[in-house]
Formats: sequence, C-alpha cells, structure tokens
Amino acid sequence: MGEGSVLAEPGWAGAMRARIVATGSALPPKVLRNADLARMVSTSDEWIRERTGIQERRIVADGIASSDLGTEAAQAALARAGWDPTSLDMIVVATCTPDMPLPSTACLIQRNLKATRAFAFDLAAACSGFLYGLAVADLYVRSGSCRRVLLVGTEVMSAIMDWTDRSTCILFGDGAGAVLLEPSTDGNGILSTHLHSDGNLWDLVCVEGGGSRMPASAKMLEGRQHLMKMKGNETFKVAVKMLEATAREALAANHLDVKDVDLFIPHQANVRILNAVAERLGLEPDRLVVNMDRYGNTSAASIPLALDEAVQAGRVKPGSRILMAAFGSGLTWASALVKW
Ligand code: UT7
Repeated sequence: MGEGSVLAEPGWAGAMRARIVATGSALPPKVLRNADLARMVSTSDEWIRERTGIQERRIVADGIASSDLGTEAAQAALARAGWDPTSLDMIVVATCTPDMPLPSTACLIQRNLKATRAFAFDLAAACSGFLYGLAVADLYVRSGSCRRVLLVGTEVMSAIMDWTDRSTCILFGDGAGAVLLEPSTDGNGILSTHLHSDGNLWDLVCVEGGGSRMPASAKMLEGRQHLMKMKGNETFKVAVKMLEATAREALAANHLDVKDVDLFIPHQANVRILNAVAERLGLEPDRLVVNMDRYGNTSAASIPLALDEAVQAGRVKPGSRILMAAFGSGLTWASALVKW
C-alpha cells in the first residue's frame, strides 16, 4: 500500500475539527428484486444472495437524476439540523453518475436548495467519494474557511449499468446520503482521514466511453462503452486488502484498538468482502453496519446511507467511535475515524 496522505492527525487538544451535525438520506421507491433480475439475465436469487448478500436494490423512475436524490437527502439533513439552506458556506457532492457532464451536480443541488451563499463542486473518487469529501469538508472547516458544510453522496448507478451483464447489473443500486458539518472544539468530530489512490489499477472498474478519450458516438453506444465494466474477482481481492489496511491505519493514527470501535461502516460492495474484512480485523458482526441486503452497492452514497440508517436506528450515541472505510474505481481507497 502506498503512503497516501494523512489529512487530519488526532491528538491536538482544543483543536478545531469538523463534526457531523445531522444526516439524511433518499431512496427511490421502486424495488428491483433478485427474482426480477433473474428474468432479465442468466442468474438466480440464490446465486446473488450467496455470492453478494444482496436481496434487493432501489432503482429510480425514468427522469430522476442524482441531483434529485441528493437534494432530498440534503433537505432531510437540513430539517433535522434546523439549518436554513442560505446558511451553508460550501456544498461538496461525491458522485460518479452526475446529472450531466456540465455543470456539476453540486451546482444543481445548490439551485434546488436555494443555498445562495454556498460555493459548490463535485468530487470524483467513485465509491470512495464520500470519504474523500469528508476529508475535504474537514479541512475547510478546520482551516476556518467554512463554518457550515453540506456533503452529499448521490448515485443513479442504474444509468450506467449494462442490463445484459450479469456480473455487474446485479450489484448496484440508486440512492443518496447527506451529512452537515460544522466546527467543533470539544474533541468530538472527525478524528482522522486517510486517502489513497493507485491509477495503475484504473481498468478494474471503469466506464470508458463518453469522455474526452472516447467521445459519445454511435460506435461507442453500439459497443456499450458508455456502461460500467468491472473485473469483479480481481477487485474483490484488492478490496479486502485495502479495506483492512486503511482501517488499521486509522486505528494506529488514533492510538486505538479494534475493541475501541463502536461501529464499523464499510463501503457496501459485497457482504463477503465486509465479513472478510471484519474477520481480519477481529470485529464481531454486531459492530458491523450492513444495509446492502436492501440497497446493493450505491457507490458514493453507500456510507452516508448506512450512517444515516445507523443514526436513525439509535445505533450511534454521543461519544460513539465510528470507523468508516471505502474502496472504489480509480483505484481509490480511504478511511475516516469519527467520534460522535
Ligand atoms: O464498488 C465497486 C467495486 N466492485 C466490487 O466491489 C465488486 C467486487 N467483486 C464482487 O463482488 C464479486 O467478484 C462478484 C459478485 C462480481 C462476482 O462473484 P465471484 O464469486 O467473484 O464470481 P466470479 O467472477 O469468479 O465468477 C464465478 C462464476 C462465473 O462462471 P464460470 O466462469 O465459473 O462458469 C461467472 O460467469 O459465476 C458466474 N457469474 C454468475 N452466475 C450467476 C457471475 N455473475 C453471475 C450471476 N449469476 N449474476
């Protein structure tokens, strides 16, 4: 594993950090069950459950885009915090399925919220995007540049699925999660973030067409190059290694042991990956947050969706230590340790 960059080191008493004030999420109502997929490609409910842990996922209705889900998730978080959207200083949106190449999905969400004071931008780190965004938000807050930040992870993965490829179309789902951040000086908040990338592994998970290397064309569409391709098995092996390494890195940086972690929220990619990482770390299933049985892999939305669900279910308490870890296309991987 590369050195990466340590963006926030723990241990400075009284230091300013960012704390998560409220969470929100949005899920489209339409459910796509394994049995539905078995009518579309050569697969079965049994294979999908056993190999991935997924039972169903949510899919948007025609015409719904990432900014729609992201706006709904942000509104839920704003309502819980009691914040007026005009008080936001910055909006960061992590997505690999933006509404359109230009402008950013963040600007569309800013418009929808009428968050007139905020500057807004998208961040591209695929399934690691939420933790990359958390690191950026934390730095802006800690530097004193921003006091109120909205971070959204939102995806319409169904838009880039090849519905004839059984090795990918069974895995992904649509959804959005949002968090609000503000400064904190009481020692709680984001204790550390660690980010990593290895572009040599770019072709493990990719969408090759539609950008500047292979602009949209009839030939590109015919070759289905506007849709996601994945080397699943290779990705699986790398993912287990990277998740374990970056989780351990977060613990070491905070001089903590696995037993000090109240909740582990990994990117929801495959339940076998999550169980393998939990086992390697020595973490019992009751401290592992899993919701991919119902939502599949929602890329940048997966961690904030799982966090919001854990918060609403009362699994997160004041002082809880939450370890988050993600990996995704790029290859990117990251971890964050948060004290609630
Ligand atoms: O967040 C994005 C990062 N991506 C991931 O996290 C994906 C990580 N990888 C995975 O989750 C798993 O590799 C998959 C679920 C994608 C595949 O599971 P696997 O156990 O690694 O299967 P495999 O690719 O080794 O394929 C085993 C067999 C193959 O058949 P043959 O060649 O042995 O006859 C596949 O064609 O399973 C077949 N297969 C399926 N069979 C039924 C692949 N997909 C399916 C399917 N239904 N949906």
